[in-house]
Amino acid sequence: MTQSETGNVGSPGPLAEDEQRSSAAAEHLEERPPAPDVDITKPHVARMYDYYLGGKHNYAVDREAAEQMLKLFPQGRIAARMNRRFLIESVRWMAQEAGIRQFLDIGSGLPTQQNVHEVAQAVDPDARVVYVDNDPLVRVHAEALLATEPNTIFLTGNLCEPEDLINRPELREHLDLSRPVGLLLVSVLHCVEDDDQAQRIVKTLSDALPSGSYVAISHALQDESTKEQWAKGREIYQRAQASGRVRTREEITALFTGLTPVGCGVVHISEWTPPEGSPAFEGGGNVVSLDDPDVVKTVPIMCGIARIDR
Ligand SMILES: C[S@@+](CC[C@H](N)C(=O)[O-])C[C@H]1O[C@@H](n2cnc3c(N)ncnc32)[C@H](O)[C@@H]1O
Repeated sequence: MTQSETGNVGSPGPLAEDEQRSSAAAEHLEERPPAPDVDITKPHVARMYDYYLGGKHNYAVDREAAEQMLKLFPQGRIAARMNRRFLIESVRWMAQEAGIRQFLDIGSGLPTQQNVHEVAQAVDPDARVVYVDNDPLVRVHAEALLATEPNTIFLTGNLCEPEDLINRPELREHLDLSRPVGLLLVSVLHCVEDDDQAQRIVKTLSDALPSGSYVAISHALQDESTKEQWAKGREIYQRAQASGRVRTREEITALFTGLTPVGCGVVHISEWTPPEGSPAFEGGGNVVSLDDPDVVKTVPIMCGIARIDR
């Protein structure tokens, strides 16, 4: 989803990162919730992510918590941008190269640049998208953004209830589940604390989709070098009412059990490229500049795309 008005997740273009940050800070929302169920007294994970991306859909509590995280992980902003690049390039590849015309994006997040429906519909204007998120602020912005988009809908829903989600009548009316779907679980499975539950979610959703569908997953990575930082980070996210767990390389790889990895497989995000045949990645369209390889290598995220084969 997109920071429609600011949010430079796309190519940094003429706007330098520092400028983006200060313009986002200057233009931030009035500190008033746009709906009664939006709680701005506690930080929220979607709004903290929006802040890392330079967006303006965030409040003082979110910015404060996000700044604490950035002290632990100074590469947090580049991490968010790389994650976004993974999402955008996955959708582009699925639409352009794999012929996918329907997308289910769970944990879709707040609007930013190059939303999933925009990327998919740039390839085929008839591509259909269902966004799902459990955050009321995401709902407010998604409904405004999608009011005039017949091929894209938003559902408030919980990833942790995958059977209910996949059986929602609105979802089934919008997507034809007898035809391949691009399932996007990007930067959301680490919001699920329990390992078995996280694996079950991926399996339940994948099992509901036909052969030839694809799943894109990115996930926060813990290794020996980041253990202490994540322990402190977890406290910050708990204050943001976000449960969840960062996972090791092996645990993240296990989320792909039963699926067929495509392209470079499940890798550190600095090593990820779209599966062969995507011209967009090579020739412009990159959404972050990878000009600091040392920083990029420290971004604590793994990701990959896999195909559902039966
Ligand atoms: C870090 S953002 C990722 C946004 C987007 N997928 C991306 O990668 O750019 C995580 C999103 O997942 C949502 N989320 C967290 N737990 C969820 C759950 N149990 N069900 C649905 N959405 C959830 C949050 O509200 C937030 O918008």
